Amino acid sequence: MIKKCLFPAAGYGTRFLPATKATPKEMLPILTKPLIQYGVEEAIEAGCTTMAIVTGRGKRAIEDHFDISYELEHQIKGTLQEYCLTEIQNVIEKCTFSYTRQAEVKGLGHAILSGETLIGYEPFAVVLADDLCDAKVGVLSQMITLYEKYQCSIVAIEEIPLENSNKYGVIAGVEIEKNIFKISNMVEKPESQDAPSNLAIIGRYILTPDIFDILRETKPGKGGEIQITDALLIQAQQGKVLGVKFDGQRFDCGSIDGFVKATNYFYKNQNQ
Ligand code: UTP
Repeated sequence: MIKKCLFPAAGYGTRFLPATKATPKEMLPILTKPLIQYGVEEAIEAGCTTMAIVTGRGKRAIEDHFDISYELEHQIKGTLQEYCLTEIQNVIEKCTFSYTRQAEVKGLGHAILSGETLIGYEPFAVVLADDLCDAKVGVLSQMITLYEKYQCSIVAIEEIPLENSNKYGVIAGVEIEKNIFKISNMVEKPESQDAPSNLAIIGRYILTPDIFDILRETKPGKGGEIQITDALLIQAQQGKVLGVKFDGQRFDCGSIDGFVKATNYFYKNQNQ
């Protein structure tokens, strides 16, 4: 059973400066809801009850968001605005939050390793909140169902235009069931001519806990950062990583283009 979900949220979010100078990127809203709340709701839907968040300096707003705000709640009690807090109050009731800090921004792999203290030795989910997913059955739910069958690490993948391969981890693998690939190779941010396929890893992972031991030994890779892709490659070489082409839609809200697309999409859906 996967009960814990890790949210690496220590990145600088430089593509959104100056908005992210004093505000965590994960707190940027799509309509009225911060990105990270969408991620937490997806994890709750998938059955997770502990949200483990890796933060850094300047990220305190995340902790305040997932906490009771007595003064505000008192002020708006009985007004039309009261209902605006219902969703976040439900989230706070349904799970617990724990936090640790990544002292230095040394890459996603390093952020995940920083979360070991919150996870312990058990399989866990990872959500990158800036990848916002919309699906009938949540993407993490789809992946946890698959984990129950295969009991190995799983990454969510999607087809991308090859010219974008240098923004993603890209996999090679064999399709063992419809939309499920046994991964044999993965390359972090390859140029299109070096990409092993057009299947890219997006911000949803199920990881078995041996990943922590592997990450401890993983040297800085692309961009001088400790890459989760490099650690996953070790598991993949042991035949222990699947990629799943999920049902649903994903928005790269870490980019301005994706953020605007997500805003329009959710706005349109809300008004339908
Ligand atoms: P990104 O590659 O999107 O980096 O990280 P970023 O810093 O958030 O954004 P830009 O590129 O500067 O605009 C992917 C995810 O990994 C987390 C980020 O918070 C984001 O959720 N991350 C990345 C960490 O937590 N720590 C790191 O050292 C690197």
